[in-house]
Amino acid sequence: MRGYLLGTLLLLKYCISGEMVNFDSDIKDFVVGNSKLFVLTDHRLHQLSHNLYEENRKDITKASEHNRVNILVPFGANSTLITCGTFNNGYCEVLDINDITKSIYYESDLLIGPRQDEKSVAFITGTSSSRYLLVGKKDDDANPQDTRYSVVSLWNTLDSQFGGIFSRIAEGSDAMIQSTVRDVEFVDGFQRDSPSESYLFLNTKTDSERKVLVLWMNSSKGRKTEIIKSLQASRIRCCSDKARPVLVASTVIPSVNRVIWAGVFSAQNQQDPENSALALYDISHVKGRVKGFCVIGEKPCGSEVGYYFVILSYG
Ligand SMILES: *[C@@H]1O[C@H](CO)[C@@H](O)[C@H](O)[C@H]1NC(C)=O
Ligand SMILES: *[C@@H]1O[C@H](CO)[C@@H](O)[C@H](O)[C@H]1NC(C)=O
Repeated sequence: MRGYLLGTLLLLKYCISGEMVNFDSDIKDFVVGNSKLFVLTDHRLHQLSHNLYEENRKDITKASEHNRVNILVPFGANSTLITCGTFNNGYCEVLDINDITKSIYYESDLLIGPRQDEKSVAFITGTSSSRYLLVGKKDDDANPQDTRYSVVSLWNTLDSQFGGIFSRIAEGSDAMIQSTVRDVEFVDGFQRDSPSESYLFLNTKTDSERKVLVLWMNSSKGRKTEIIKSLQASRIRCCSDKARPVLVASTVIPSVNRVIWAGVFSAQNQQDPENSALALYDISHVKGRVKGFCVIGEKPCGSEVGYYFVILSYG
């Protein structure tokens, strides 16, 4: 989706000025940070200025290696770009955001993003005095006998934090949200500033039911465990004419005092002309919990205290 959008953007640029950036292969992902655009293809990471002039490029695979970059997060306050991938049991690298050919830090044997090629969400959360890398993804390391899966983790962004850089250790236990549902798909998420809060949107699937959920955390808290413990969750339903239990894409709509969010929902029936719908919600106050999503160690894992969101409009 993003790749497609960017393709359109680049083509537009081409039409206007006759310039075009040539990428060596398909666009996999892109992020914007520090007035720059970072575009990921299979083999390279490209650093572009906002008018799409290529400033730098960095190879991410050599012919003999298998690597898939699965985390690409601008860390503006640190003037760095955090990248992680699957090469050799996983790794993470901190690059200079103004020159991605400069590597500031590298750590191997570390898998923070998804092992398989699947959707995940990652962004910087926290406050100016304590920032963390929040990652939401399906648990890749689960064993068949497991009944709980780790779905959201907070990782350190600086070596000076307790446990060191890229550690998810917190005081007492790891900073994680767990789920009893194996099949989760993180579709979107964002960090809001003042107040500092994190939103995550995901699809869940069990034998009996599909659901769309929003997870909320108060990231004004300094400690990782406090952020995790502030978890609130709710189900998001669309719409009154028929059930569309799968979130396809979403975006937050800038608004001063409220958090207005738009989602595209699908009934998963391509034959149906009304298969998908776009709906708007006011999600300013996520309150309650949903069964099967909890703070690590909590028993039972989440109980349904439901508040459903009121749809502002849909079509
Ligand atoms: C930015 O991150 C690097 C690498 O982790 C660290 O050495 C440096 O102190 C950080 N700078 C700031 C201003 O936080
Ligand atoms: C978030 O945490 C901060 C710091 O503890 C607190 O002042 C604030 O009221 C909390 N916000 C919400 C919405 O709970």
